[in-house]
Amino acid sequence: MGAVDPTFIQELEHRPKPAVIEAHGIPQIDLSPFTTTSPATTTTAAAAALRDLVDQIRGACANWGFFQVINHGVPIESREKVQAAAKRFFDLPAEEKRKVRRDEANPLGYYDTEHTKNVRDWKEVFDFTVEVPTVMPASYESDDDEVTEYPNQWPSYPPELREACEEYVKDVQKLSNKLLELISLSLNLPANRLQPFFKDQTTFVRLNHYPPCLAPDLALGVGRHKDAGALTILAQDDVGGLEVKRKTDGEWIFVKPTPNAFIINVGDIIQVWSNDTYESVEHRVRVNSRKERFSIPFFVNPAHYTVVEPLVELTNEQNPARYKGYNWGKFFTTRKRSNFKKLDVENIQIYHFKKPDERKLDDVVARVENVVI
Ligand code: OGA
Ligand code: NI
Repeated sequence: MGAVDPTFIQELEHRPKPAVIEAHGIPQIDLSPFTTTSPATTTTAAAAALRDLVDQIRGACANWGFFQVINHGVPIESREKVQAAAKRFFDLPAEEKRKVRRDEANPLGYYDTEHTKNVRDWKEVFDFTVEVPTVMPASYESDDDEVTEYPNQWPSYPPELREACEEYVKDVQKLSNKLLELISLSLNLPANRLQPFFKDQTTFVRLNHYPPCLAPDLALGVGRHKDAGALTILAQDDVGGLEVKRKTDGEWIFVKPTPNAFIINVGDIIQVWSNDTYESVEHRVRVNSRKERFSIPFFVNPAHYTVVEPLVELTNEQNPARYKGYNWGKFFTTRKRSNFKKLDVENIQIYHFKKPDERKLDDVVARVENVVI
């Protein structure tokens, strides 16, 4: 990527501020009570430690939508191997990388032209799915029931990339299962309540590469957005750049890299399942004028046929469902289509499935927020 093309330039209000706010960052949670014992734990001390952990998860999900985990059980070597192979891949000449480029039929593989909210992101990525095969609707049209398989497009160089990614995925999958159990417990649900949604999961992993950028004050590595899936498990390197919108005041907070920790965030689907008890929080990525940066989000997504709607146990007459159900596969393919076509319309959002009364209320809140900020 050469000089800064106007397509990368953010509107004034969305440009990163020169000063980075670290403040009291997102919560850090030690998962060892859960990685060393199971939820059906016997000793009272272990049970108390688990209860404390679930309380921490509840607080972090409700107050931040983001947290970091340590003692998570993913071996450091597993992650380092992917990082090293990703660097070798992204160091290749553009024409080599484009041999595994995504297209309209298969959104997996390499690309360097993603737009978030119609401004181009200063990054290049490589996507692959966890389940082989991963089944998705063939089209975004709601009356078309045909499905298709997304094949992973592994490059021939570096040869170790595929195996490194496959090993990593096995390790992070275990962490993903644990986090879903903890989140279920934190919503006062049985530990395995969310598990069936992931039987034919459409989880995918992205290798992100953010090259140095000469205009770190004008462009962003990823523009502000919320993650559409259930949960994201992010590995970032020591350069840093991720910023999270603090719920209390809307300030962008820098997430200081913690070696070997994972950053976890609740996505839109958990927001809907929890009927807004937990909210998917906006985040973005700053770029660096001198250093390249790598990150690896693992996007935990349910089966394509999942109808995403508030869980019945979490709704009642006083707290009715705030969303109509929507089909995850159709939601995902609609998003992909508008990304690919760069349509000049707003992307599909969970907001579009809010029930009418809730939408009205949200409009009022949005207007009030606009006045205040
Ligand atoms: C994303 C994302 C954060 C990062 O890819 O959705 O938010 O630090 N990435 O790369
Ligand atoms: Ni994200």
